[in-house]
Amino acid sequence: MLRAVLLGPPGAGKGTMAFKIVDKYGIPHISTGDIFRANIKEGTELGKKAQEYMNKGELVPDELVCDLVKDRLSKDDCSNGFLLDGFPRTIMQAVELDAFLKESGNRLDIVVNIQVGKEELMKRLTGRRVCKNCGASYHIVNIPPKVEGVCDQCGGELQQRKDDNAETAENRINVYETQTAPLVGYYAESGALADFNGETSVDSLFDKIVEAIGE
Ligand code: AP5
Ligand code: MG
Repeated sequence: MLRAVLLGPPGAGKGTMAFKIVDKYGIPHISTGDIFRANIKEGTELGKKAQEYMNKGELVPDELVCDLVKDRLSKDDCSNGFLLDGFPRTIMQAVELDAFLKESGNRLDIVVNIQVGKEELMKRLTGRRVCKNCGASYHIVNIPPKVEGVCDQCGGELQQRKDDNAETAENRINVYETQTAPLVGYYAESGALADFNGETSVDSLFDKIVEAIGE
């Protein structure tokens, strides 16, 4: 049983860690960003609404996000826990999540807070490439695929996210600082917060997170 949240600025490595954590602990990976991107691809109403905000690097309004997440957490596969990636992102979302979990007598076990400085974040975001097919994440310098433009895992085509251009990436980091960073204090108070230096190798960060969660 593990109910966990990955917190951290854009490019901190939440998605990269999420793939490894859910593989180890056998819990579903719930990324609100991925859910919105899937909706944009399918051309749903939700996707159309979310796209406007995402392309500018702004947050999608709380009311569009909270119901979606509560709905997802109510599914059977979350009965043994879950890993939230990119949610909550505002104090209001965090309060709603706590209230939702409390209804069934539950609470978060850990909030994994990955810290990375702005200069490194910009390099990571602008160099990121993502598999169109399976969503695996690479970096043109740090974590290059074996064959340029091709996913190691599934052979899918690698592409750049629309919001990973320098201007939008910078805005996303600013939005994080004003709207999401206050969650660090919120979770420190609740006792669930665990801080990690994200400016280290993927494997070393993963080992430290596993140490904090327990086997
Ligand atoms: P979302 O998809 O959540 O994006 P984000 O928070 O901006 O974070 P990223 O996915 O960009 O970064 P990451 O931390 O996952 O890093 P990654 O592992 O890929 O949200 C997108 C948008 O959706 C938001 O802007 C907003 O509009 C909307 N949205 C989503 N949720 C919302 C919510 N709750 N409320 C309102 N709006 C919401 O790594 C980045 C790069 O670095 C990769 O290339 C990777 O290979 C590399 N890398 C990773 N780790 C390392 C390492 N240790 N060393 C070297 N390189 C590394
Ligand atoms: Mg991500």
